[in-house]
Amino acid sequence: MFALSGKSALITGAAQGIGKTTAEKMSELGCRIAVADICREKTEAVVRGIRQSGGEAVGVFMDVTSNESIDFAVKEAANAFGGIDIVVNSAGILGTSSIEDMQRDGEWNRVLDIDLSGTFFVCQYALQYLKKSAAGRIINIASVTGRNGGFEGSMSYAAAKGGVIAITRGMARHLAKYRITVNAVCPATTKTEMLEGYTQERIDNQVKNILLGRLGKTEEIAAAVCYLASDEAAFVTGAMLDVNGGAYFG
Ligand SMILES: NC(=O)c1ccc[n+]([C@@H]2O[C@H](COP(=O)([O-])OP(=O)(O)OC[C@H]3O[C@@H](n4cnc5c(N)ncnc54)[C@H](O)[C@@H]3O)[C@@H](O)[C@H]2O)c1
Repeated sequence: MFALSGKSALITGAAQGIGKTTAEKMSELGCRIAVADICREKTEAVVRGIRQSGGEAVGVFMDVTSNESIDFAVKEAANAFGGIDIVVNSAGILGTSSIEDMQRDGEWNRVLDIDLSGTFFVCQYALQYLKKSAAGRIINIASVTGRNGGFEGSMSYAAAKGGVIAITRGMARHLAKYRITVNAVCPATTKTEMLEGYTQERIDNQVKNILLGRLGKTEEIAAAVCYLASDEAAFVTGAMLDVNGGAYFG
């Protein structure tokens, strides 16, 4: 596998699910990890787990809907490790409303605020540190939904993830002059706590759209992130890495 030794990463949404597994896998590859999440208790548990396995980690409280919170957390992470080389944006929530039931001041704004605006502003605040890195990396966890509009999911989520894909490409273009690469991983439905918002029937319907006939595993998404964070991916930018079991070909 790829080596990440000597590098420091800030991973949002790292208290559980894809972010947590990514934090653990990147730590195994030698990376120092700032576990950033709104859930303090689970954040501390992830930090403890990484330290017990011999890795280096700090927990930073971050609410990605607040620029004040992002600013504070990014500075805390950078101070802990003397900089930030890699940002992974995994913080996100699911939308479940139908087109008919969508509430502008409810799910619509909330999903866009966390999944899209949160991703953008974490990048903005981390940029000063990424510019100083010899190999700055931004890796956004988008979704197959951002690629194809979703099979039966909510339009708030499709809009947010489509937006994440757009800003990933745009930032790749704007930040190449600083040798910062910006890529996204686009998973299909992956077994995490996030699916607790879905009924079993809905999960079964999702699996029907996945050629390989099963849900994704967090380890499979984390492996793609580790690749994009590695020196081996130095020439990859503006890419959408589909890890979707054949749910969408692009
Ligand atoms: N699980 C899937 O099927 C799937 C598929 C495609 C893409 N994704 C994307 O992958 C990412 C991770 O998803 P997951 O399945 O691991 O979800 P998850 O619910 O298991 O984890 C999401 C994490 O984000 C954190 N979070 C939520 N709101 C936050 C906020 N305001 N500020 C900071 N942290 C916040 C949560 O506390 C949690 O730890 C998300 O962006 C999601 O959209 C997931």
